[in-house]
Amino acid sequence: MNQPDISIGRSLRDWWKRERAAAGRWATARKLAHVGWEFLRDSLPERRRRRYGDVDYDWEFRVNTTSATVGWRTRLLGLLHSPYQPIEPELFRHIINSLGIDFSRFTFLDIGSGKGRALLLAAQYPFRRVMGIELLPELNSVAEENIRKFSSEKRACREIHAFCRDASEFSLKLVGNLEASLREIPRPAYLIYVNPVFEEILSSNSRFTKMSGTHQYSVFRNANAGSNGHAETPTGTRSLTWTDRRFKSSEGT
Ligand SMILES: C[S@@+](CC[C@H](N)C(=O)[O-])C[C@H]1O[C@@H](n2cnc3c(N)ncnc32)[C@H](O)[C@@H]1O
Repeated sequence: MNQPDISIGRSLRDWWKRERAAAGRWATARKLAHVGWEFLRDSLPERRRRRYGDVDYDWEFRVNTTSATVGWRTRLLGLLHSPYQPIEPELFRHIINSLGIDFSRFTFLDIGSGKGRALLLAAQYPFRRVMGIELLPELNSVAEENIRKFSSEKRACREIHAFCRDASEFSLKLVGNLEASLREIPRPAYLIYVNPVFEEILSSNSRFTKMSGTHQYSVFRNANAGSNGHAETPTGTRSLTWTDRRFKSSEGT
């Protein structure tokens, strides 16, 4: 699979088609004006200064995961796809600790992994493997650099990879693909959905049950994931963080 071909023109065209199909021409034109306005506001020094509010993690771990240093082109692409916003470390640890699973039997997969903060946080748990998929090359190369720099003493998981790919290419029917894979090799799976604006996609799926959540996140599991969360088979499993709005529209296709 090749790196995605991401240009502002193409992203804009795809965005326009997608939004127009969902909301009509005038609503889309208004939304586009709003996107432009947001982009300009976001470029003001005050907004930029505020984005540095997420920099504590970087200071502590000597990495670069802040949203404050993302270039204008990637920020604009972010508005047309899904803006980069790294997860709060406390929230991440709270969710992962609440699973009560044997990490060594699970693969952690972050869909929309940005500069890799969730990957680095997950690497501090003894997952079998930690993997991320990110659409935008600028963000993914920073994630790769972060993985290289991340101190080996802090890692409980040795195998960490960040791939630059369009997740919608192979996760177009993400839940469907996951279901098929779980039917083929039955094993426990947990889905973590951060900022669960389209939670109904999972709630309406009879194979996944909501296990916990707040307004900030939802955790779903399949029937093989027992109440103590221990894997019943030794096969790898996916733990997904979904932060990308496009999965909603992809899902329906
Ligand atoms: C809210 S950020 C997630 C940050 C990351 N999970 C973390 O916590 O550090 C959402 C990310 O999804 C990426 N994204 C959007 N559409 C995507 C797609 N189709 N395939 C892969 N990544 C995508 C965006 O570029 C952005 O970096």
